[in-house]
Amino acid sequence: MRWLGLLILLMVPGAAVAEQGESAVAAGRAVLIQHECTRCHVIDDLPPATRPRDCVGCHQFIQGLAPHDERYKQIAARYGAAVIERYQKNISHLLVAPNLTRLAARVRPDWIADFLAAPYDVRPALSESMIRHRLSPDEQRTVVRYFAAIANIDEKSPSVPVPASDPTRVAAGEALFLERGCPACHSFGNRDTGVDAATLASAGAAAALAPNLRFVKTRTRPEILVDWLIDPARIAPHTLMPAMGLDRAQAELIRDFLFGADPQLHPAPVAVPQVLPPLLPRQVSYAEMKENVLGKVCVHCHMNAFEKDTGPGNLGGLGFAGVGLMMRTYETLLWGAVGADGKRHSVLQPRPGETIPPILQAMLRRREEERRDHVPSFADYPRPAYPSGPLGMPLGLPSMNDHEIALLATWIAQGCKGPATVSGHADVGDGYLVPDGPIAKNQGCELRAPSVLRPEWAFDREGRAGIDRDSPAR
Ligand code: HEC
Ligand code: HEC
Ligand code: HEC
Ligand code: HEC
Repeated sequence: MRWLGLLILLMVPGAAVAEQGESAVAAGRAVLIQHECTRCHVIDDLPPATRPRDCVGCHQFIQGLAPHDERYKQIAARYGAAVIERYQKNISHLLVAPNLTRLAARVRPDWIADFLAAPYDVRPALSESMIRHRLSPDEQRTVVRYFAAIANIDEKSPSVPVPASDPTRVAAGEALFLERGCPACHSFGNRDTGVDAATLASAGAAAALAPNLRFVKTRTRPEILVDWLIDPARIAPHTLMPAMGLDRAQAELIRDFLFGADPQLHPAPVAVPQVLPPLLPRQVSYAEMKENVLGKVCVHCHMNAFEKDTGPGNLGGLGFAGVGLMMRTYETLLWGAVGADGKRHSVLQPRPGETIPPILQAMLRRREEERRDHVPSFADYPRPAYPSGPLGMPLGLPSMNDHEIALLATWIAQGCKGPATVSGHADVGDGYLVPDGPIAKNQGCELRAPSVLRPEWAFDREGRAGIDRDSPAR
């Protein structure tokens, strides 16, 4: 039978290619689903992540709720409208992310491969970063093959050489680039466009998603660039880039500018060791620290084990196994994280031989990562090497500022004192209303397990079980 199949393939060459494409798509989908890339990205017809896990989808949903919506009324009836107002006031991140549908139709597969191997900041007005993911080199190749196959693109693209640049055409292209209003969304390295970084940062979703065009040379498929400039929606129907009213000759001029201009990069900044800001000269309560630091940003990936999504940093997600680190309540925070040896350690006390607690080290590391992960508009430089050590926190998000780090550091230095009163609502098992209150041993930064095996408040209305102290939470 084998030779019969071979004969059919020889007779219909397209069939083998199509079959290869189908298996590449299936293999890629499996990896993308396993690593939960759809928690942030829309990707072709992949099923979106479900509500308790869809970071961008849920944030958009909550920001989009209006008082007359059924869901708004339900939430308001159960918890009060103030809760929704709080949520809408607080959510400012992960409201947009690049749409990866038919990505390889416009972005070169070799660029996608390089990016996945070592992601860097492409969109200067977007404060979130592509995460330091856990795709193995094999899985990265599978994902690149997926993007190429689903867009029906030869993986070895570009097939058309990047045209040589003629200085007069580059200059004329730049004049047109400025005149047509491209700088309302885009920068090109550090070239002066008459727009400043602050304006771009507050210009909305289209500017946030607009790439720094100095990457076009290595990133955009030369075959489609001119067509893209004439009518982007023909190549990517979802795109927020409008057609800019260019004819072919004008688009070719701009292409020559994009391929030929010097981005006028600054030298890469020298790595400065990140140090803790000075402690605050006053008392910092648990409530103040939680509201402004761990409960504001970090908890969203480090939830307690009984919540609807326990968080990638707790029981795992986004391709991470998780380290069992929970920050919703005082008693779980004190239970620390599971290390490589399978044992729990405090994140609030320095490890042997170190002076800074792991939780503060993680925050300082994020500041270092930002040299690569977040390069603001018009402050462009060649990206430094991709970090290889432990992850900076918060993963993929802007680093915590001096005041936030000082609040946590001061609270720790003052002995990790627990909550003075009970906050939250009884019977709530998910979100910031989860009750949190004083426990038997209500101070000290050393590692300790939750005092109550299954606290009353750990059961929500649907009766989901609480923390299982005996499980390693892995
Ligand atoms: C927590 C959110 C988040 C998750 C999860 C995530 N990404 Fe991203 N990704 C981003 C952001 C934000 C960017 C844009 C970064 C930039 O342009 O500066 C991005 C950019 C990309 C890009 C470049 C797209 C372009 O047009 O420039 C690719 C490819 C990509 N991600 C693939 C993946 C894959 C594969 C996964 C799953 C392993 C994944 N992402 C998971 C947030 C995320
Ligand atoms: C079920 C809906 C939902 C999902 C899913 C969700 N969030 Fe949120 N997120 C919220 C709400 C509600 C708030 C505001 C909470 C508050 O103010 O107490 C919030 C706030 C945040 C904040 C702090 C505010 C800000 O914008 O900086 C961060 C960071 C965050 N979420 C990250 C994430 C990440 C990362 C994911 C995916 C791993 C995620 N969220 C998934 C609902 C969600
Ligand atoms: C309203 C905002 C906006 C304006 C104005 C705009 N763009 Fe874009 N542009 C975008 C966005 C958003 C993308 C990202 C495409 C996507 O993923 O949807 C993009 C993508 C591109 C790309 C593909 C780059 C890549 O790396 O994927 C090029 C090239 C480009 N724009 C050039 C231009 C030029 C030239 C002009 C002016 C003639 C212009 N744009 C005007 C928003 C804009
Ligand atoms: C987008 C999700 C996300 C956010 C937001 C986040 N974390 Fe994490 N965190 C993770 C993941 C995932 C891991 C586990 C990494 C692994 O499995 O290797 C982790 C691990 C950690 C660890 C390592 C524990 C140890 O000692 O081994 C610390 C400390 C930590 N996070 C602190 C923080 C702090 C502090 C913040 C807020 C500034 C934060 N995280 C925000 C996802 C997140």
